[in-house]
This record gives sequence, C-alpha cells and structure tokens, in this order.
Amino acid sequence: MNAFAELEEKFAAHFGSYDQRAARFFAPGRVNLIGEYTDFNGGYVFPAAVSYGIWGLLRPNPGRVVRLRSTNDELAVDVSLDEPVSWRREDGWANYPKGIIRDLLAKGLALQGCDILYSGNLPAGAGLSSSAAMLVLTAYMLRTCFESRVIDLVTLAQTCRQVENEFIGVNCGIMDHFIIAKGRPDRALLLDCNTLEHDYIPFDLGKYRLVIMNTNKKRELTESKYNERRQQCDAAVAILSQHRPLQNLCQATLAEVETLLSDPVLRKRARHVVSENQRVLEAVAALQAGNTAAFGRLMTASHCSLRDDFAVSGPELDALVEYAWAAPGCIGARMTGAGFGGCAIALVDHQDLQAFMQQVQIGYQAVTGRSADFYPAIIAGGVKSEEAAYGS
Ligand code: GLA
Repeated sequence: MNAFAELEEKFAAHFGSYDQRAARFFAPGRVNLIGEYTDFNGGYVFPAAVSYGIWGLLRPNPGRVVRLRSTNDELAVDVSLDEPVSWRREDGWANYPKGIIRDLLAKGLALQGCDILYSGNLPAGAGLSSSAAMLVLTAYMLRTCFESRVIDLVTLAQTCRQVENEFIGVNCGIMDHFIIAKGRPDRALLLDCNTLEHDYIPFDLGKYRLVIMNTNKKRELTESKYNERRQQCDAAVAILSQHRPLQNLCQATLAEVETLLSDPVLRKRARHVVSENQRVLEAVAALQAGNTAAFGRLMTASHCSLRDDFAVSGPELDALVEYAWAAPGCIGARMTGAGFGGCAIALVDHQDLQAFMQQVQIGYQAVTGRSADFYPAIIAGGVKSEEAAYGS
C-alpha cells in the first residue's frame, strides 16, 4: 500500500469516509543555509525548502465547521465559521490553522465547512519550520478550495508571517513563510528581506552533500529568547540612528557597530547581524563560482558568530557542530534556524558520509549523553497541490 493510500485510510477513520472530493496538498520544511537573524533586521537570507514536510487532505463538508485532525497527534479541534476565532492554549498546533481561518474570514473569504487531516514527517521541534509549514499549508489549501483567484504566494507568505506575529505571538521574520511558499527543487533562495526581491541559485555542491543533524534537544525558552534578541537589535538600531538615520540594523557598517555601541552586549548582537549579512552575499558568490570549500568556511564562521556574538546556539548545538568540523569529509557546519536546540547542517564529502556520521555520533553522545539523528537534505519545491507520490 502506498503512503497516500494510508493517509486516505486515516482520513476515513477520522471522518467516517474518504472520497475523491478530498484535495491533497503538501508544504515543505526548510533549512537556512546561511543568514541567521538577519530577516527581521532587513538583511539577506539564503534558505532552501526540503523534501520533509506536512501533507494535508481537505474535503468540503455540508456544515459551517472546519474539523482539524492530525495523524501525528490525538488533538481534535472543531472551528465554527460563525463565531469569533480565538487563540486557546489547549488547542495546541490547531492554533496555527485557526489563525489562518480567522485571517481569511476577516478578509471576507467565503469559507465553507470542511474536514482537514494533516500528516507530517518533519522531526518535531527541530527548527525545520513545522509551524510556518502548517500556516502556509493551511492558507494555501483553504484559498485553493474556496477562492477562484490565482494565489499570489508572496502575499500568502506575508499573511502567514502576520498571523504568526499577531495570533501566535512570535515576533519572527518573513524567511520561513517565504521559502515554504516559494521554494524550488534544487535551488536555494537568496532573499532580500527589506525589499522581498529574490533570486533562485542552483544548489550544486559537487561531490559534497548537505546533511541535517538533529541534536534531539528540545528547544527551550525559544520564544522569549527570540523576542529578547529582537529587542536588542531594535535597541542597537535606535542608538546607531542617532548618528545616521537607519531603517534597519543591516544598513549599519561594522565600523559604526564597533565605535558607536558602547554596551558590550548590544555591540556583539549587532556585530553578528552586520557580519552575517555580509557572509550571505559572500556565500552566494562562492556557490555560484563553484567554490564549495569557501561556502563551507562561511557556514563555519556563521556558527562561531551565532555562538559567540549572538548567543543562540547552546551546548548541544555547539557539541554537534564542533564534532562535525573535526569529522572526516566535513568542510563546514553550523546551526540552522532560531537555535537553542534543534538542528544543524553540515557539508560533507559523499565518500565520507558513513564515517562522518559515526564519528560525530560517538563524540556527541560522549559529551551530551544524547543521540543525534542525521538526515540527507533533498532540496525540494514550495507548497503545492499534491497529485503524486506521497512520501516520496
Ligand atoms: C526563526 C524565525 C525566522 C528567523 C530565524 C533566525 O526561524 O522564524 O524568521 O528569524 O529564526 O534566522
């Protein structure tokens, strides 16, 4: 039995039956190759969508209720389209689709009752953007099924970010929603988060492979620490702007950061952001020139900056990345995403993959007492209606 058939069976188990009126969708997770904490500072990011993600089946029902279910969790949430939709702690992951439903209703979209089943294979809480995938998937499904206009994916990404900021309460930037909406197979995306201008860059690593490494460390304090970093960046902009008006931190120079920020913490935070922004452009140039080794060195420099200046890595991510640097075939590694646990990525010579994983695992286990997981990263496309090959 193929995996789609399995999902259809589960849909029937949840909702009493399955039939061909159910539409199938997929939204990927993402890795960020380089450009961390630059998005809300008006800078560049360089993410790619991956083949892991969340599938969704949606079938209209005759009522005025959206029934939300998942194969990954027991939670069952029903949302009435005729009552105000509000965030509730006990609704857990269903708050993401609820935020989208609320937004679409506020915009006057003629939503109808429907049954939705989600099923994901993104490792939970691993920093591969399962929450942004859930938002983008839900917005795309509902708009495809209940709106006749062509969907503008940039607007869709902006809306999802707004829902995450205002309904969920995480002050994140646009990167995750944008790449999940607009990713392309075998391409990484250079995005200017200030203007939303973007370019697709062929992701050709020659003999190297991109490996995702999961610390299996549950991310803790992520939201409060994330929002705190954001405030520190805003505080740095306020001080730097007394000297020269700036729209965002990425417009500052390193010389300004070093001379004008007397607070050592703000100086470090700003130094990371400004230097990281520069590294993104250098990394893209290296990739385009076929210089994978230089790309790897910039990834490593990015991790050091996130560890020492931005202070968002933590002992597990540092151990995993440091063992990766020392392991056979590795030419660069860094944490990816918000940090404080979750995943890192490494560039590894394909001939050394087994030895690499073995050596990193032994070192990581010895230091942290935890076991890491390794996944090959396949660069995939963005959100889509899925006609074929569930689980491929
Ligand atoms: C999370 C946020 C993004 C971005 C990264 C850090 O993934 O959702 O907007 O800020 O952290 O680069």
